[in-house]
Amino acid sequence: MSSALLVADNLHKAFGAVRVADDISFSINAGEVVGIIGPNGAGKTTLFGLLAGTVPLDRGSIHFGGKDITRLPTHQRAQLGIGRTYQIPRPFTHMTVSENLRVAALFGGGLEEAECDEWVKQVLDFTGLSRDSRTLAGRLSLLARKRHELARALATRPSLLLVDEVAAGLTDAEVDDFIALIRRVKNAGITVVWIEHVMKTMLAATDRLIAVAGGKILASGQPKEVIQSREVRRVYLGT
Ligand SMILES: Nc1ncnc2c1ncn2[C@@H]1O[C@H](COP(=O)(O)OP(=O)(O)OP(=O)(O)O)[C@@H](O)[C@H]1O
Ligand SMILES: [Mg+2]
Repeated sequence: MSSALLVADNLHKAFGAVRVADDISFSINAGEVVGIIGPNGAGKTTLFGLLAGTVPLDRGSIHFGGKDITRLPTHQRAQLGIGRTYQIPRPFTHMTVSENLRVAALFGGGLEEAECDEWVKQVLDFTGLSRDSRTLAGRLSLLARKRHELARALATRPSLLLVDEVAAGLTDAEVDDFIALIRRVKNAGITVVWIEHVMKTMLAATDRLIAVAGGKILASGQPKEVIQSREVRRVYLGT
């Protein structure tokens, strides 16, 4: 029996006349890595906002771990285990990498001061950032900045990690590093929903793919089949 960690039912969201979620329903099973693809402006980042509670829903419901979280504020959803990265990271640039992770662990993860040093060290090791631990976040290279964004989300100890476009702008080898990192996240028992335009990541690292456009789910299922589906090719390639 599959166990649904997250269930989104009939989500509706519009910005003025633009419908970014037009009756979207899906569920995410514990332990899965689910990819989300869709053209620019399809509403992918907004969907993460709806799940994390930073964007208010117009209509619909969201359950997480069997609990109705539809009306819970962001920080309570974070405490329950929903962590996310941002497409445009906004770390505390005047603080070091370690200090940023500490803040995430304290305020997002609810850790005690005394637990933080060891936990931050683990997250640094896990994300390959140990050498940058004392670097100011504002001075990181592009790759390290992306690792740091993932590390900040992991520091909050999520059971569900929402990853919004980390592969953009990276070299092929760096993309491979991220694929390996997301696999390690999955092996650590964390469920992942990953938005990405770089198709290689979606084929290599996801168990299932959901394609969205115009506020609707176009296709969902095996990654390869979704990417090759008529609906997705029509939206991406105009065929
Ligand atoms: N706070 C907001 N107010 C008004 N419109 C918004 C707001 N946030 C997003 N939008 C609009 O909603 C639509 C979906 O935006 P969203 O950022 O969710 O798309 P996306 O699929 O993540 O795109 P991309 O692939 O470029 O990141 C866009 O037309 C965007 O301009
Ligand atoms: Mg986006």
